[in-house]
Amino acid sequence: MKSKISTKDLVLPFFLNAGENNKEPIKSLPGINRLSVDNLIEDIKEVRNLGINKVLLFGMGKNKDLSGSDAFNENGLVQQAVKAIKVQYKDIIVITDVCLCAYTSHGHCGILKSSNEVIIDNFNTIKTLAKIALSHARAGADWVAPSAMAKKQVLEIRKTLDKNGYTSTKILGYSAKFCSNFYGPFREAVNSSPKFGDRSGYQLNFSDAKKAIKEIQDDAKEGADAVMIKPALCYLDIIKEASSKVNLPLAAYNVSAEYAMVKAYCHSPDLEKKLVLEILTSIKRAGADLIITYHAKEVAKWLRA
Ligand code: PBG
Repeated sequence: MKSKISTKDLVLPFFLNAGENNKEPIKSLPGINRLSVDNLIEDIKEVRNLGINKVLLFGMGKNKDLSGSDAFNENGLVQQAVKAIKVQYKDIIVITDVCLCAYTSHGHCGILKSSNEVIIDNFNTIKTLAKIALSHARAGADWVAPSAMAKKQVLEIRKTLDKNGYTSTKILGYSAKFCSNFYGPFREAVNSSPKFGDRSGYQLNFSDAKKAIKEIQDDAKEGADAVMIKPALCYLDIIKEASSKVNLPLAAYNVSAEYAMVKAYCHSPDLEKKLVLEILTSIKRAGADLIITYHAKEVAKWLRA
């Protein structure tokens, strides 16, 4: 069977910004901007006209603190953005990233046990992630996507959503999230680089395929409705293996440095088109049902032409 990429396979990430009529280019991600909610709505109009129906939203904390409390503010950026999209465009499937790294003063994805060492307080982390997910569900998110790699995060979020009546809000687990060198541009975009230490204590070691598959299976057992592998290109083997072992839709995140490398290399639009289609086809061929990519708009245009 031949793999063919389609616009409906694509998920476009968006970075949010406070204020009005605000559009701030992200240097490390050529062509991608941080958008205020009004500009996001304008952009989504274009995206929708191109046939893309799935978006992934990333916010950023204004007042960063040790517990990332801005992340579950009912009037936070993500919450406002979800509401605004759902008022205008009910058919857009809104996925929200549920994590703490853009909201904590130390830049880690969880609550820490001490102020200068990376030891995750898993209990408080998953309780907080569940609060964030609930606030996104209340705003109208269709899917919440926990990306903190905290143990039992999917289970805790599922329980909290169900208890509050959000039984139809779905969970996309960032199940196999590797401790990767391909996230740099993203961290610039949301200002989430760790202030000390690194994420190797909670993200997966890139040499450990077995653990990755186990994490995916665990998320499936905890109630995830879809699972993600991230990044995509160095992990096509994991995508392939997961697609034969897990009976859930599979998403792959073609991450920020994968995008930036393509932008740096491609000296002509024609080369970029051919190269990106080759890359995305490889991800689909490996077994991904959904591909999260900063190239989504361009791809939709190319597929249409
Ligand atoms: C963490 C998170 C990361 C990305 C999305 N959410 C990685 C990280 O900083 O460890 C990376 C996405 C990309 O590089 O495009 N919550």
